[in-house]
Amino acid sequence: MRRVILIGFMGSGKTTLGKELATRMNIPFFDSDEEIERAHLKTVGEIFGTYGESRFREMETGFIDAMHEEDEFILSTGGGMPCFDKNMEDLNKLGTTFYLERSPKELAHRLRHAKTQRPLISGLSDEDLVTFIEDKLSEREEYYKRANFVLTREEQKVTEIERLINLLENPDQKS
Ligand code: S3P
Repeated sequence: MRRVILIGFMGSGKTTLGKELATRMNIPFFDSDEEIERAHLKTVGEIFGTYGESRFREMETGFIDAMHEEDEFILSTGGGMPCFDKNMEDLNKLGTTFYLERSPKELAHRLRHAKTQRPLISGLSDEDLVTFIEDKLSEREEYYKRANFVLTREEQKVTEIERLINLLENPDQKS
């Protein structure tokens, strides 16, 4: 059963890497935000605006439960998902988790032009964005770091994740 779960802050590249990995491993790809949007026929921004963030967080928890139905997948999670309720524990039960670690500076650079569709940062100036990322990341890191693997920027590659998965599946093999 190959269930690979990518976690990390907004803008850390979970979706891009996840899609590449799914193609390479030939297994289905899921993006939690997209699945929630599809199920509720609203964008994440509309869900925040209409029902509030706490309702969105409940939807995320429900989504984790539903993923137990699937045997094999690559899952890209919303940046806040691991940090609410007992989601991180549940994600670790669901599959193998990989934290894509990135510095606040790098995240700010990547998010500067990708704010609009993300309700938590859509109204922030570039200056406030940096402060927001630093504060939120320091709150969230304790959850993210409970992942099975913490990948540095250099390790965030399809080949490295594949190597780690193969190692888990064949623990006697030399890497
Ligand atoms: C959020 C991250 C977003 C999305 C929502 C909230 C967060 O997902 O779930 O806007 O709390 O960090 P991405 O990490 O895919 O941007």
